[in-house]
Amino acid sequence: MAREVTLCFPFLHYIFLYLFFPHHNDSIPRTKKMVKTVLVSPPYRALLLEGVNPAAKELLESTGCIVEALPKSLPTDELIEKAKDVHFLGIRSKTQLTKEVFDACPKLLAVGCFCIGTNQVDLDYANERGVPVFNSPFANTRSVAELVIGEVISLARKLTQRSEEVHKGVWNKTHVGCYEIRGKTIGIIGYGHIGSQVGVLAESMGMNVIFYDVVPKLVLGNATKKNTVAELLEASDYVTLHVPETETTMGMIGAKELAQMKPDSYLLNLSRGTVVDIDALAAALRSGHLAGAGIDVFPEEPGSTNEKHTTPLQGLPNVILTPHVGGSTCEAQTAIGLEVGHALATFVYRGTTAGAVNFPQLVPPPVTTNTHRITNVHLNVPGALKEINRIAVDLGCNIGLQFLSTEKKIGYLIMDVDQDVAHELRNKVSQLEVSIRTILIH
Ligand SMILES: NC(=O)c1ccc[n+]([C@@H]2O[C@H](COP(=O)([O-])OP(=O)(O)OC[C@H]3O[C@@H](n4cnc5c(N)ncnc54)[C@H](O)[C@@H]3O)[C@@H](O)[C@H]2O)c1
Repeated sequence: MAREVTLCFPFLHYIFLYLFFPHHNDSIPRTKKMVKTVLVSPPYRALLLEGVNPAAKELLESTGCIVEALPKSLPTDELIEKAKDVHFLGIRSKTQLTKEVFDACPKLLAVGCFCIGTNQVDLDYANERGVPVFNSPFANTRSVAELVIGEVISLARKLTQRSEEVHKGVWNKTHVGCYEIRGKTIGIIGYGHIGSQVGVLAESMGMNVIFYDVVPKLVLGNATKKNTVAELLEASDYVTLHVPETETTMGMIGAKELAQMKPDSYLLNLSRGTVVDIDALAAALRSGHLAGAGIDVFPEEPGSTNEKHTTPLQGLPNVILTPHVGGSTCEAQTAIGLEVGHALATFVYRGTTAGAVNFPQLVPPPVTTNTHRITNVHLNVPGALKEINRIAVDLGCNIGLQFLSTEKKIGYLIMDVDQDVAHELRNKVSQLEVSIRTILIH
């Protein structure tokens, strides 16, 4: 029989209007072979690793969560020792969350990747265990867009060259090959979060904006859509890439495409390294066909600051090379901390899974005053919902709200039910063979 604990929590004071509400939960991970009950009781515990932005700690603490934040990642054995009793794990790119780690952390309710990528997490296994994994793919959009504009001006004015010269004592006061960006055309390939933001900023600097995207997009400002990449390349003074890494974008800018670009134009890539053929770009710069380039991402990037990086672009004039720092600003880190912290909190206090990369997506409304909310993760097998509803019917329970979403191996169910039967319903549902995790939220 599950133990129940009722506590009051101040609830996300600067995000929601809620001040306090009672909270209980338990979780019952199980497999067909071994039925294992693990009780999870508030106050929730979170372990944040790798110097996750303090905004996340502050936000989780405001919900009553006990947070331990460490500046580094931990080796697996130490990680397991530290994380075995936590409900939330917050990581960045270095911590590997393997099957072994998930098995050793039975109380884990959700994982927050305070970064863009989630390759470091065994997402399928997390899904099977009913653990949603959240990340923050777009919090650094503005940072990247601003750097693009900065680089466009720097390339137009040969800023890095002039600066290097003065550092060496050379006073090369010249206007040759230096231009304003006003009135020039910027061609954006990939008009998504970053691409469209670049368009808005570029237009405010007086540039003409054209773009190419594979899906129809809401056009911002006076931007104009081009129907082919070739059309865009032929018309642009600056080409900037903002596509994801997919089969269709890998190598999308090679020798042929570079030749289609205007003489003395510029290429910027702050998207993914594999999108541009770097050898072909180096050749186009050496031949003088292109006047410069800004490259932040490379086909192969060092794994750490100690590793040396080599690229055929090194030493070429008017080429800005940066170590994948397009999104690296303090503001972006704060935004990531808040976004992922908020996702963890709304999952556990409301059942919301929007943005989880490995989980069915549900966005329920707030819990109403006279109901309790139960969330249930179950095996995605025929009849699972019927079994759950049968228990509700047998208990004479009035279901105020019921959301279900299924995906691959699991189904995720949220239901708001009468308060007087909620605990019994939760206990009985959690005992079902199909149930993976059942939580009584509120
Ligand atoms: N340099 C950095 O530090 C940094 C930081 C953040 C993001 N990024 C990268 O920037 C890129 C864009 O990010 P975003 O947040 O704008 O992504 P997004 O998903 O919002 O936008 C990508 C756009 O590219 C379009 N697209 C996909 N395939 C295309 C193709 N073949 N041709 C033309 N358009 C295509 C999509 O339809 C979408 O509109 C991603 O590769 C991301 O990894 C880099």
